Amino acid sequence: MRKTVLVTGGAGFIGSHVCKALAKDGFMPITFDDLVHGHRDNVRWGPLEVGDLRNPEAVRGAFKIWNPIAVVHMAGYIAAGESVANPAKYYDNNMRGTLTLLDAMIADDTRRIVFSSSAAVYGAPKAVPITEASALNPTNPYGHTKLMTEQILRDFRAHGISSTSLRYFNAAGADPEGELGEAHEPETHLIPILLDAAAGLRKSFSIYGDSYRTPDGTCVRDYVHVSDLAKAHVLALKHLDDTSGANAYNLGNGRGYSVREVVSEVEAVTGRPIDARVKPPRPGDPPELVADPGLAEKELGWEQNYADLSIQIDHAWHWHLKAKGLHFPTSPRQYPKTPEPMLATD
Ligand code: UFG
Repeated sequence: MRKTVLVTGGAGFIGSHVCKALAKDGFMPITFDDLVHGHRDNVRWGPLEVGDLRNPEAVRGAFKIWNPIAVVHMAGYIAAGESVANPAKYYDNNMRGTLTLLDAMIADDTRRIVFSSSAAVYGAPKAVPITEASALNPTNPYGHTKLMTEQILRDFRAHGISSTSLRYFNAAGADPEGELGEAHEPETHLIPILLDAAAGLRKSFSIYGDSYRTPDGTCVRDYVHVSDLAKAHVLALKHLDDTSGANAYNLGNGRGYSVREVVSEVEAVTGRPIDARVKPPRPGDPPELVADPGLAEKELGWEQNYADLSIQIDHAWHWHLKAKGLHFPTSPRQYPKTPEPMLATD
């Protein structure tokens, strides 16, 4: 019988890739998602339980039905800027959801959990690359909810809970087989916005600030392929078979790219120019976030298959065009100027 894993937030961008990776490895992912931001269509590798993680009956009900051996906890609000404007929304959803989930795990005697944490726990680091020993100083409520959850998981060792927190840097790319990709509503992430601009779906693109203390003045980030992230969850889950306690690992590429470098790379991959305009900085954006992924490589045996930014963009571009129902008459690379996109008719 396949081993069942409850995946909260399994209908989201990273969650759906995690479900696919789990299923490929012989697990049965049970997605628990309220579908506020997740997509029903993303749930293809196991059953879907639609519910609010803050609802104890709904969560306990899912445990009773599916009797999972472990949990991958990915549900949560993720927009750092929104969390500054509306902290109550973030503390309520992210913290109450986590506590309800942990209560249900203890009641069900499910003791292993892999948690989606974030580089946001580091805030604006003093130095890069960032190791797990770097100072933890979130700069917004979203980051605080991630750090608080990590702390709760450490404390819940007393209840027999073993956990691994995976601190993602910037998730990018899309399923190499073209089945899944990124579609947030509203979209705030750099690469999908640039792909919209490249596809002619937006007139221009705003660079949020070019006076940071970075080589070209724009923010530097570490982009990691979503399928590589997904693979790390499977490794982390298996690692919990042999270890207990509360662990945390960075999941990043180890290499940083500035916003301007990403713009150039998107232009190169799509063959379309982007009208990039400098705008004021986005509040709360740290200048530079680059991971040292050495610990995950050493202890989890994690290896990236798609560390190259151009491959990440290529996968995302293919999925983006498919998801938006767009196609172009010939290879995009042959177009010096952005043509009007054509709506697919077939
Ligand atoms: N950016 C622009 N213009 C845009 C959108 C983004 O210049 O239209 C810039 C941002 O200012 C930032 C960079 O592109 O410097 C990347 O921005 P994203 O919004 O794509 O990602 P963030 O680095 O802000 O945050 C992401 C996730 C967080 C996570 C963090 C960890 O959204 O959940 O990575 O590194 F915490």
